[in-house]
Amino acid sequence: MRTAFCIIAFACCCMAEAQHTIRSGEIWNDDRGMHINAHGGGILEHKGRYYWFGEHKSDNTSAALVGVTCYSSRNLADWRYEGVALSVVDSVGHDLERGCTLERPKVIYNPKTKKFVMWFHLELKGKGYSAARYGVAVSDKPTGPFRYLSSGRANPGKYPVEMSAADIAALDTLQAENYTEWWTPQWRKAVKEGLFLKRDVTTGGQMARDQTVYVDDDGKAYHIFSSEENLTLNIAELSDDFTRHTGRYTRVAPGGQNEAPTLFKHDDTYWLITSGCTGWAPNKARMFSAPSIWGPWVQHDSPCRGPQADTTFGGQGTYILHHRGTFIFMADIWRPEHPSDARYIWLPIKFENGMPVITWQEEWKPE
Ligand code: DGJ
Repeated sequence: MRTAFCIIAFACCCMAEAQHTIRSGEIWNDDRGMHINAHGGGILEHKGRYYWFGEHKSDNTSAALVGVTCYSSRNLADWRYEGVALSVVDSVGHDLERGCTLERPKVIYNPKTKKFVMWFHLELKGKGYSAARYGVAVSDKPTGPFRYLSSGRANPGKYPVEMSAADIAALDTLQAENYTEWWTPQWRKAVKEGLFLKRDVTTGGQMARDQTVYVDDDGKAYHIFSSEENLTLNIAELSDDFTRHTGRYTRVAPGGQNEAPTLFKHDDTYWLITSGCTGWAPNKARMFSAPSIWGPWVQHDSPCRGPQADTTFGGQGTYILHHRGTFIFMADIWRPEHPSDARYIWLPIKFENGMPVITWQEEWKPE
């Protein structure tokens, strides 16, 4: 009898251990026993609960057939399915028409309005990746339902804060017809100087694709996204209610081709971890730091260490979660041929000689 009790107690202990362990790349089941379907996602902590929002992916298409899903957890390891937080719409011509592309959703909480605000990358149904729009939705509850507000390109008519009157005047010398061939030294120089920025500033605003949002210690929020044909990142300040751009933004790594931006702050330094642009295929992560969100941003080597470090362990970053004084790098291992089977990589960020380092671990436990 006593032996049987010991065996059961030991087994229970092992199960609890297993449940609180993060194993990147494996199937992660929710409370229903189904692989978590929340890709390109991010996490919001609210009143002691974590809310994970991400793209619902179908079995054979990356188009949005469902919308943004939400899961919640108290310990970052056991996740409860909360349902569809933002749904696609069955109305022809609607921005969120079923079959659109809705990627990389992130949710932040605004304490002034008491609203949860979701930002995402939106591509209109049947238009490939040409719309290059941000989308915004709000909700009174973290789990939704989120109400779609608007979508568009960013900061029409506005120039980045770092551009002087002379820099803006110099844009007149950049004539698109002189740069029809990409990747030449002249074209690269023109991109840095604002070839695509100039094109978009007067025609609806800056392109907004891969994206994240970040709330700073002072309560100000920022939208970080791939712009200018994925050649340049923008960091754009958000309005006090977090639902609009204010018109103030900075360009990061012009011409550097960065996607998948993730941002965090540690000891007054801002860190950006991004990827290169190779579609669904993994590539080497990039890292930048700055003393202010407005820059200047300096590039460093990839923070990844261990097997497959040169391809970000086979994944692409999506979010950095600030968790009780530590940081967790979240990434996706895409499976474009079977999108719903995409996997997750979550790894802690450590610091070595003041620099962030992400080392592959088969399994680990959040503190
Ligand atoms: C890479 C991006 O990071 C993903 O979010 C997705 O847009 C794919 N490209 C599409 O190829």
